[in-house]
Amino acid sequence: MAQSAVFDAQAVTAAVNEGIGKIEKASSSEELKAIKTQYAGAESAMTQASKAIGSLPADQKKEAGKLMGKLRADFGRAFGAKQQQIKAEEEQRALAAETVDMTLPIRRKPLGARHPLPRLMEDVEDFFISMGWQISAGPEVETEWYDFDALNFGPDHPARQMQDTFYVKGNQAKDAAGFVGSNMVLRTQTSSDQVRALLTRGVPLYIASPGRVFRTDELDATHTPVFHQCEALAVDKHLTMADLKGVLDKLAVAMFGPEAKTRLRPSYFPFTEPSAELDLWFPDKKGGAGWLEWGGCGMVNPNVLKSAGLDPEVYTGFAFGVGMERTLLLRHDINDMHDLVEGDVRFSEQFVMGE
Ligand code: DAH
Repeated sequence: MAQSAVFDAQAVTAAVNEGIGKIEKASSSEELKAIKTQYAGAESAMTQASKAIGSLPADQKKEAGKLMGKLRADFGRAFGAKQQQIKAEEEQRALAAETVDMTLPIRRKPLGARHPLPRLMEDVEDFFISMGWQISAGPEVETEWYDFDALNFGPDHPARQMQDTFYVKGNQAKDAAGFVGSNMVLRTQTSSDQVRALLTRGVPLYIASPGRVFRTDELDATHTPVFHQCEALAVDKHLTMADLKGVLDKLAVAMFGPEAKTRLRPSYFPFTEPSAELDLWFPDKKGGAGWLEWGGCGMVNPNVLKSAGLDPEVYTGFAFGVGMERTLLLRHDINDMHDLVEGDVRFSEQFVMGE
């Protein structure tokens, strides 16, 4: 630093005036700050000159002090005025940049659309809840016992074979029924919840059990290895097939409109006796679609009631199961299962209208 600084009135005046000139041309607060450091900071001619006053002969000090006071005041005034001007300009610019044009069209972020399947399943649940039934949900990884044995599937029933059922490796279960050593499977049907619900909830029992099921099918236009069913089970005293038919017709109306109806065709399932195929009729947009296969149903087989420790002489029950994908395909005249599983939002969007 200039310890040998000498007081040079002309030089400091020139320096300060140069600074004031720069201040007047400055156009941003950063620029202004840099000018201040250069012309009024510790190293500046102005500061150095002020310091040098001390070493002046006494008779020159007053004069020098006066000059420095004036220079500092001139510099300060110029600086202050410019600072205000720049601040006002910067505020103006910020306001202009933040202006929102309310007349511009909205740039909407694309929204997703809920898949129609979970919505359908909620509708189905609402139907059962409106009748006072309970909603139950069994596990997707299930014991072979609940999925087959408890439902009266014989040990050699073809559905157990590997081509239909996903077996879960190396898992031996001990389940609520105390059945030890059952293999684990990915449940092939929501009927697997029947005996589980009977054992855990007791009777009288009125449950719907919607959920995912798994079979070793290839994905094609009508099959998918992961799909959804809703099982319904009622066990009470004095239930008959007329009760079953009544619930089925009501469900058909809830799902397919006021004219929808159901028809039963004799069939076979291990867990119901008698058993029936459930057919559905509803008027499509062209005015009548004919009978379509919708699910399976029947009166609960006494062996199933026995699996749950119930006396079939006292209790009777009915059960049915419908495929949820199938319900959607029928209801909306969709021809290809791929549409349901591929997750293209354009597919789901079609169902959002009219919600
Ligand atoms: N679990 C059967 C299936 O996956 C559907 C079914 C048929 C359920 C008859 C029932 C029934 O409750 O009584 O194909």
